[in-house]
Amino acid sequence: MSAITDEVQALKDAHRKTWASGDYARVAELVTEVGETVVKRAGVRAGSDVLDVAAGTGNASIPAARAGARVIATDLTPELFTAGRRRAQRGGVELEWLAADAEDLPFEDERFDFVLSSLGVQFAPRHELVASELVRVCRPGGVIVLGNWAADGYIGRFWTVMGPYMPPPPDFASPPAGWGSAAHVALLFAEHPVELTFERYTLEFVAESPAAFVDTLADFYGPLVQARNKLAAAGRWEALRDELIALSSELNQAGDNGFQAPSEYLVILARRRK
Ligand SMILES: C[S@@+](CC[C@H](N)C(=O)[O-])C[C@H]1O[C@@H](n2cnc3c(N)ncnc32)[C@H](O)[C@@H]1O
Repeated sequence: MSAITDEVQALKDAHRKTWASGDYARVAELVTEVGETVVKRAGVRAGSDVLDVAAGTGNASIPAARAGARVIATDLTPELFTAGRRRAQRGGVELEWLAADAEDLPFEDERFDFVLSSLGVQFAPRHELVASELVRVCRPGGVIVLGNWAADGYIGRFWTVMGPYMPPPPDFASPPAGWGSAAHVALLFAEHPVELTFERYTLEFVAESPAAFVDTLADFYGPLVQARNKLAAAGRWEALRDELIALSSELNQAGDNGFQAPSEYLVILARRRK
């Protein structure tokens, strides 16, 4: 194994541990709308073959299966599939769950009619590899649809605040915010046979207060759970928490009556040329 491969594997192991921590299923409930938007935007049809990449607990897979498609839900973190299977069963749909890295999809070329991801592929570190894989497994005339947190939206700014508190990523890793910028995504697909369309959507986060929202994420959202664990030991968690609450308060539209904040996401549709 080369040094870079060891380094990449170490980062993937850390990512898997991060996403398996907390309780992502609780967070997924706050963002179901993104998966539904992705499926609707793609126009998933009954009887079609759908791949959901970085599917988590199935926010895109489950509505795609409900539309009558044959769905394979893949993710780096198979620990999340237990909750996903439970949700699918409750929703009365059947789909396949498979551990897989978005940078190295275990499928033959042109296998799927629809390749989807809801707030998912943007977390894989090597963006060019992911773009190539998404196009490779999509059939000519098929459609790739990705919903990604916008780089300049609430969650994009959340990451900007977190940045200085976290260890710098390795050189080969690009930040998730890139996939939330149309200019970056256009470059990623520039050499691929796809026609791109971009749209922006807004999801509303609602909670009792800005602090309650930040604390919910710190309890359940893997990346913030890990950040709190590390920073608390170094006496730095309160400073990050205060900054995140300040950002959340700035965007709060509910005044003193609670918390309601718009969070923008970019929906990318890439149609593979025939
Ligand atoms: C914010 S969650 C989104 C999950 C789900 N799509 C949703 O809408 O709720 C991000 C997901 O990306 C997955 N992920 C991170 N890196 C990945 C990679 N390299 N390959 C596949 N999945 C990855 C995580 O395990 C996690 O499930």
